[in-house]
Amino acid sequence: MDDLPDHSFETALVSRLSQPATRLLGRPLHFFDTIDSTNTSAARLARQGATEGTVVTADAQTGGKGRLGRSWVSPPGVNLYLSVILRPRKPTSAAPQLSLLASVAVAEAIVQQTQLLPVIKWPNDVLVAGKKVCGILTEMQANGSHLRSVIVGIGVNINAPLASFPEELQDKASSLLLMCGEPVDRAAFTVSLLTHLEKLYVLWLETGFPVVGAAWEGYASELLGKSITVTAPEGVISGTARGIDQDGALLVETVSPEGQARPSPRVQRILAGDVTVVDGYRKTGTVN
Ligand code: BTN
Repeated sequence: MDDLPDHSFETALVSRLSQPATRLLGRPLHFFDTIDSTNTSAARLARQGATEGTVVTADAQTGGKGRLGRSWVSPPGVNLYLSVILRPRKPTSAAPQLSLLASVAVAEAIVQQTQLLPVIKWPNDVLVAGKKVCGILTEMQANGSHLRSVIVGIGVNINAPLASFPEELQDKASSLLLMCGEPVDRAAFTVSLLTHLEKLYVLWLETGFPVVGAAWEGYASELLGKSITVTAPEGVISGTARGIDQDGALLVETVSPEGQARPSPRVQRILAGDVTVVDGYRKTGTVN
């Protein structure tokens, strides 16, 4: 009996989405008990012509993909693995904005569904009390200089116990359960996330990036104005985080090395890399 798949998450999700909570996202919804990667599946569907708003979700992934060629730990029965197909009529340069937008939607769902205080770490990791609870992998298909489709893949560690993380991740990653001490309803969280994602996406289509960028900066308060180190493809860069621009690039104010005739601050745009806040992130992650 124990080996039979548990369909309660799928049933609860379908029932909540039929209320209807969203107009676009999750229509249709493809649910798998186990899949290699929801992003790979969504990309295949997109190539076959799936419509905007199609969502692929799974109870477990056997080949969950992370950023920078990493893998994403995806045990069954506890977390959220979800990919959304979007088809904005925008240039390919707009795709990174969707990753930032998705991180804001996750932060808003965490605020709505728990007592936790999420923080966004550039570009789109969501942390609670300094530990990563969500990762986002955005992949695009282009038509010349324009987007044909964008797959926004979101992994949220919802009810994962500590033992489900490999030892080397146990001090860096966590789950909402571990942070708030009680299980979080996966279906309610998923619908909250899709609702926020849809609201932000429509706003972005109608008004552009500024509103989303400002919301992102609101959740990145532990980064902005702080001393940071970025391990980027071009090397290690140290400076003060100042914000993001239209391309989702992190703006880092650096000072030219001492000894130069006139040390002067300049702003560098970082398009990829891993950020470390020199003084670390806040260790408490709850509202009270
Ligand atoms: C990261 O490295 O931080 C990004 C992780 C993204 C994981 C999600 S889980 C759902 C979707 N399917 C995947 O294979 N990856 C993304």
